[in-house]
Amino acid sequence: MAAATPTAGSNEGLRDLGGTCAVSKNDQCDPRVTVASASQPRWVHALNNALEANKADMHSRFVQLATITHFSFAGQETTDISENISPQGLLRPRVRWVVFRGFLNENTTTFKVITDSRSEKIKEILQNPYGEISWYFIQTREQFRLAGRCQLVTADELDPVLAVARQDQWAALSDNARKQFSWPAPGLKQDSDGISEDTRKALYNPPPVPGTSPPPETFVLLLFHPFSVDHLQLRPNPQVRTVHERVQWSINKQPDGMEIRGEGVDESDAWAARRVNP
Ligand SMILES: Cc1cc2nc3c(=O)[nH]c(=O)nc-3n(C[C@H](O)[C@H](O)[C@H](O)COP(=O)(O)O)c2cc1C
Repeated sequence: MAAATPTAGSNEGLRDLGGTCAVSKNDQCDPRVTVASASQPRWVHALNNALEANKADMHSRFVQLATITHFSFAGQETTDISENISPQGLLRPRVRWVVFRGFLNENTTTFKVITDSRSEKIKEILQNPYGEISWYFIQTREQFRLAGRCQLVTADELDPVLAVARQDQWAALSDNARKQFSWPAPGLKQDSDGISEDTRKALYNPPPVPGTSPPPETFVLLLFHPFSVDHLQLRPNPQVRTVHERVQWSINKQPDGMEIRGEGVDESDAWAARRVNP
């Protein structure tokens, strides 16, 4: 799927946030550890500030999403790609650009991305939903690395709130962005496929599909639920690096114990932040 245009001027996710200071053992408020629960976590505040400060640069909506896959060679899963490496059972990362489409709603830390059900990342996420998003804001010189879990909202979605979120996202797209979901399946071989260039042009310029129509099966709303955010600020001297973690995650260290729900998925979750060396 080619780059889709980000929702112009979207200020979704811009919120007034605040954190409460964690109380340390000696009842002193420790400025290095902050827990936000009732309101949004501090990193959301930092991210929204970065989005605002970098909004003139449309690239600020492009993020890199990494997922995990099995080793394959020439499209075949393999256990022997060289004499010296036997990657049997090994996994490898895959990374690609996607467009950040804002937060699922104003009470959540869940991100929205759109993608095609026929793309490779779908298979990867079905096998292993954990991924990482990397984001660099050029103007403010900040990196955000978010580790999280991907959730696919497809045509078969049973949760009515998520099904509506998928429909709404479809309706919010431009005609050109919607057209991409009628294109031929991504990744299929074009060499010697017998399709003339004129026909190919027509295949990639299908009639417009209105936003009021139901989204096609190919349209997937990908939700990313972060559980750890590593925020690096290059501008200050010395640089400042803050790691934010969902408290539930930090305590349990048990990703599958995390409950992934629909609307307001992270509503009641607390986050702890700590400064680390850059
Ligand atoms: C700037 C940019 C933005 C992109 N945005 C998206 C996107 O929002 N969703 C998407 O599925 N692919 C997007 N793509 C295409 C992906 O990077 C990738 O090529 C495609 O999704 C196939 O990836 P896969 O084979 O890993 O599934 C974008 C590419 C670029 C260069």
